Amino acid sequence: MSFVEVQHLQKIYPSQSGENTALSDVSFSIEKGRIFGIIGLSGAGKSTLVRCINLLEKPTDGHVIVDGKDLMALSERELRKVRQNIGMIFQHFNLLQQRNVLDNVCFPLEVAGVKKREARRRAMEYLEAVGLAEKAKAYPVQLSGGQQQRVAIARVLAAEPKLLLCDEATSALDPQTTGSILSLLREINRQYEITMIIITHEMRVIQETCHEVAVLEHGQIAEMGTVTEIFDHPKTEAARRLIYQ
Ligand SMILES: Nc1ncnc2c1ncn2[C@@H]1O[C@H](COP(=O)(O)OP(=O)(O)OP(=O)(O)O)[C@@H](O)[C@H]1O
Ligand SMILES: [Mg+2]
Repeated sequence: MSFVEVQHLQKIYPSQSGENTALSDVSFSIEKGRIFGIIGLSGAGKSTLVRCINLLEKPTDGHVIVDGKDLMALSERELRKVRQNIGMIFQHFNLLQQRNVLDNVCFPLEVAGVKKREARRRAMEYLEAVGLAEKAKAYPVQLSGGQQQRVAIARVLAAEPKLLLCDEATSALDPQTTGSILSLLREINRQYEITMIIITHEMRVIQETCHEVAVLEHGQIAEMGTVTEIFDHPKTEAARRLIYQ
């Protein structure tokens, strides 16, 4: 069994005009330690898919199996435990403005019951890893966008997740800063063997970081394969449109 197994996933949102099928029969699997990209036009269902993977959104049908556990079969308590192994980073960094960098990274650890000293030790370790140890006492407003995203990444890493979900994590950043965040993600993937799912509009992000990629169109997978396969020989119109945009 692969580290992540998504099986026949379906998500239907109720809407005024009846039902809106955001995902229909989506299946794929990701081996441990791989970086899996998801591309697709706006509204294709990418964010819905990752939100279903950590059960922020409850799938209408299908299964999400992470590290051998079927998330839908778990009790609230078990689910909370599994969720601690799943980290998420977004386009908006959502840092607490009233707290300094160190406290931002410590905060979720303390909420999770980690002792203050241990939380600080771990926070410093991951701030070191993202190259921001010397900004530990700075406040978010004093940092650039790229630095804020690094803090958000350190905060997620400090929880020591096995799976990292990135939804448009570099979309708010300029090309050079994007490049540095991407090399950081690759480095993290190598060093900590974290499996990653990366959603992006930027094809370059996929080419530079991902091993495999899935093309999502109207809530279905149009095409899926290694990045080289898909980028060198896209078979579907959906993939060609994205790649040659
Ligand atoms: N909370 C929600 N309630 C109702 N419908 C939703 C909700 N979230 C998403 N949708 C619908 O599901 C579909 C897929 O949306 P989703 O946000 O997953 O797309 P996306 O691929 O992430 O788009 P983008 O690239 O613009 O972020 C859209 O039709 C959207 O309107
Ligand atoms: Mg989205």
